[in-house]
Amino acid sequence: MKILILGAKGMLGQELVRVFSDHEVLAWDREDCNICDFEKAREKIISTTPSLIINCAAYNNVDMAEGEGREICFKLNAEAPANLARVAKELGASFVQYSSDYVFGGTKETGYTEDDPLDPISEYGKSKAEGERLLGEIGGKIYIIRPSRIFGVKGSGEGVKESFVDLMIRLSAEKNEFDMVDSELTSPTYAPDLALRTREIVENHPPGIYHGAQDGACTWYSFAQEIFRLIDREDIKLNPVGSDFYPRPAKRPVCSVLINTKLPPARSWQEALAEYLRDC
Ligand SMILES: NC(=O)c1ccc[n+]([C@@H]2O[C@H](COP(=O)([O-])OP(=O)(O)OC[C@H]3O[C@@H](n4cnc5c(N)ncnc54)[C@H](OP(=O)(O)O)[C@@H]3O)[C@@H](O)[C@H]2O)c1
Repeated sequence: MKILILGAKGMLGQELVRVFSDHEVLAWDREDCNICDFEKAREKIISTTPSLIINCAAYNNVDMAEGEGREICFKLNAEAPANLARVAKELGASFVQYSSDYVFGGTKETGYTEDDPLDPISEYGKSKAEGERLLGEIGGKIYIIRPSRIFGVKGSGEGVKESFVDLMIRLSAEKNEFDMVDSELTSPTYAPDLALRTREIVENHPPGIYHGAQDGACTWYSFAQEIFRLIDREDIKLNPVGSDFYPRPAKRPVCSVLINTKLPPARSWQEALAEYLRDC
C-alpha cells in the first residue's frame, strides 16, 4: 500500500514513518509539500495516488494562537485538513487527522469519551474542533484520532518543540526546585505507541473518532514527579501550584482525560514513560 505521511519530520510523523516501513511510504514535511498551499498540495498528492494519507502537520502553539497565530492556526488545523480530506475522497483514499483533548472544555470531571460534545475554550482548541466539524461534513474514509500531551523523541522539523519530558530532563541539570501546576489533568501519549495505535486503527477499525492517549491521567505536577522518580532525581523539590500561578494567554481545560471506549486499553502512561526514559 502507498502511504503518504505529512508532517513526517515531527515527533509523531517520524514514528509513523517507522511503523509503516514495510509499506511504500512517502514521508513529506513542509519543504516537500506545504499543506496550506491548497492547490499545489492537491496536485502533488493526486499525482502520487496514495491509498492512505496521514496528516501530522499542525499548528501547535496554543498561546500564540490567542493572538497573532490565530489565522495560521485555523488554516493549518482546520482548512488544510479539510482540503486534504477532499483530496483523499477524490482518490478513494483513507485519511487520518490528529485532533486534541483541547476540543473539550474540561468541566467533566470523569473525563471525555469519543462522542462527547465539543466545547473548546482556547483558539487552538476551537481550530481543532473546526477541523473535526469540516471533516465530518466532507465524509469519506476519515479517521480522527485525539491524543494529548505527546512525548517522545523530538522531531527534526525546523519548528518542532521539545516535549514536557525532555524539558524536565534538560531543566533538571540546571535546577533542583520547580513550581509545577497541579491541575490540567489529562492522559499523556507516547509517540511510538500512538503511531502503532494509528496502524491498528486504520487496519482493523471503521472510520470514526478515536482516543489515542495512554491509559491513566496526571497533572503536570504528577507527571514531573514520575519523570524525576524514573531518572533517580527524587532530590528535586516539586511545589504544587494552581493553574493561575503561571498566567498564560490561552485557557487550558482543568480535566481533559481522554476515555477510550472503542479500542483495547492502551498501556499506562507510566509504563510508556519508563520505556522512553530507558531508551532515550
Ligand atoms: N504534541 C502534543 O502534545 C500534541 C497534543 C495533542 C495533539 N497533537 C496533535 O498531534 C499531531 C502531531 O503532533 P506533533 O507533536 O508530532 O507535531 P510536531 O512535532 O510539531 O510536527 C509537526 C510537523 O508538521 C510540519 N508542518 C508544520 N506546518 C506545515 C505545513 N504548512 N505543511 C507541511 N508540514 C508542516 C512541521 O514542520 P516545521 O517544523 O517546519 O514547522 C513538523 O515537522 C498534530 O496534529 C498535533 O496538533 C499534539
